[in-house]
Amino acid sequence: MDYILRNVSKRLGGSDFNKLNNNFKFSKIKKLKKEIVNKYPDIPLIDLGIGEPDLPADMKVINTLKDEAYKPENRLYSDNGIYEFKLAACNYLKNIFNVDIDPDTEILHGLGAKSILSLLPYCFINPGDITITTIPGYPVLATHTKYLDGKVYNLKLTKENNFFPDLDSIPKNILKNAKLIYINYPNNPTGQIANKDFYKRLIDFAYKNNLIVISDSVYANIVYDTSPLSFLSIDGAKDIGVEIHSLSKAFNMTGWRLAFIAGNKDIIKLYSIIKSNSDSGQFRAIQKAGISALNNPDIVKNNIKRYSKRFELLINALKEVGFSLEKPKGTYFCYTKIPKGTKSGIVFKNAEEVSDFLLKKALISTVPWDDAGSYLRFSVTFIAKDYKKEKEIINTLKERLKKLELLF
Ligand SMILES: Cc1ncc(COP(=O)(O)O)c(C=O)c1O
Repeated sequence: MDYILRNVSKRLGGSDFNKLNNNFKFSKIKKLKKEIVNKYPDIPLIDLGIGEPDLPADMKVINTLKDEAYKPENRLYSDNGIYEFKLAACNYLKNIFNVDIDPDTEILHGLGAKSILSLLPYCFINPGDITITTIPGYPVLATHTKYLDGKVYNLKLTKENNFFPDLDSIPKNILKNAKLIYINYPNNPTGQIANKDFYKRLIDFAYKNNLIVISDSVYANIVYDTSPLSFLSIDGAKDIGVEIHSLSKAFNMTGWRLAFIAGNKDIIKLYSIIKSNSDSGQFRAIQKAGISALNNPDIVKNNIKRYSKRFELLINALKEVGFSLEKPKGTYFCYTKIPKGTKSGIVFKNAEEVSDFLLKKALISTVPWDDAGSYLRFSVTFIAKDYKKEKEIINTLKERLKKLELLF
């Protein structure tokens, strides 16, 4: 055992690897979910913790993959991507967000947004350099910054700040060594969306402080009762940053691993170098299927319609049992403060305890967030074949929650 473990890198804990708590939140939830399902095989678990669309990719997309997979010319490494995919992504950015991108210099594909976020720090971070990020949130850019001996400065997204980062609160000594600032709107988990004013302030701030903006926009087109907005549509954005879009969420293609990064051409150039030394591009047939997804905005429209109706059911049910929340403006998540305890005398210390309690006592799975206040995230991507089934699941949810007699 020691033969391997004495060689573990410092970034994974070195010789302390085994002593570290590597039981991450999502694996812990998965494990507990499995235990509960085994214990109560006859009671259906209500899974509102899922972060992936419930539907498969559109048949047009699947058929394109099928046809393209047969073609011998698609067998080759695609390196930094096929030109047709870049063109389709540029058209999509123009049609949906009114953003002009040069397909030759300002855009590249990636094996999912996660992969792009994991590679970007290699372009910029030296030991001691700082990435500013928002919490709660998607941690991949920050994790890789730390892997490279960089440092991370967290900006809390709180209800008081309307779930926007307080840029003016960042200390001068942090700004001096900061290189990257990560933002994510529509935001996972808070459901907040950005507005032009926020992006303008961010661009000014970044420019003044010599920061590069990484805008994670994987939920960009999942918005309700408003138009989608891209950071790149704001004047000056391309001078200081890039935006990442993914086909995972809005096009129901999480497992397909296809995303793209667009914006500043120098950043794209640097990313292309790191990327070409890390992977050899996504399978061409998948990129071609991606083109058919990007050319079919109805896929997204249908998802939005479905999620919107589900939110109405879910939010009403949660409000009835005492939670206080509104329909989110974007994403498929809603985010709400935890209850204080139960009538029977249980007192909750944090969101993790509530999430465990709901799973064990009511077979309801949620995701807890304790990074900036204690909140639960509920997703509307639960499995239900039609509206009747959706209503039935949400009614069961309400009945189970009522029985718990939560106190707020
Ligand atoms: C905010 C955010 N960024 C990036 C990702 C990863 O997206 P992809 O599937 O394209 O890797 C996720 C997935 O959950 C996410 O929530």
